Amino acid sequence: MSNQNVCEKILYSNEQITQEVKRLGEEIAKDYEGKEVIFVSVLTGAFMFVSDLVRNVSLTSYIDFMQVSTYENSTETSGNFVIKKDLTSSIEGKDVIVVEDILDTGFTLYNLVEYIKSKNPASVKIAAFIDKPARRKQNISADYVGFTMEDDYFIVGYGLDYAQKYRNLPYVGVLSEHLYK
Ligand code: IMP
Ligand code: MG
Repeated sequence: MSNQNVCEKILYSNEQITQEVKRLGEEIAKDYEGKEVIFVSVLTGAFMFVSDLVRNVSLTSYIDFMQVSTYENSTETSGNFVIKKDLTSSIEGKDVIVVEDILDTGFTLYNLVEYIKSKNPASVKIAAFIDKPARRKQNISADYVGFTMEDDYFIVGYGLDYAQKYRNLPYVGVLSEHLYK
């Protein structure tokens, strides 16, 4: 099936994304000058963001992936956190940047950062492609943000999915209502 008409509007074009990711990469390279960085990317949504980001960071870098799921439930404020794919290498004493697609309620990153900290890295920061502050339920913020989205849209593309679909759109758009209603 064609990817045409998947979005009712485009929020961030491929050109805008390229520009913002470059800005983030350069900022990170400056902040970590003289250091090595381990990027821990969250599968699957951040795969495109991390691949573009690391190409814009001119430092010796390592890339690792984790896959997790958080099921929100009313009895536990942290939700139910499950690690499906763990780190491949040790991060002890290293400078870690966690790379995520969206910071939404904050449950995923809150749990992930707590887990990463338990492995005794030298430092931990967060790079989020999109920050959606309107829905935040955990007190957590990102150190590097590509775009801040004030509206509570459900968006797809550039790694973000709806039912595992539309990750390959080269832009970010608002999912057309007819696809989920
Ligand atoms: P949270 O911060 O724990 O609520 O979870 C954020 C995760 O929910 C992200 O990593 C995305 O996978 C997913 N997510 C949140 N908002 C959207 C959206 O608008 N489109 C696609 N996925 C989303
Ligand atoms: Mg995700």
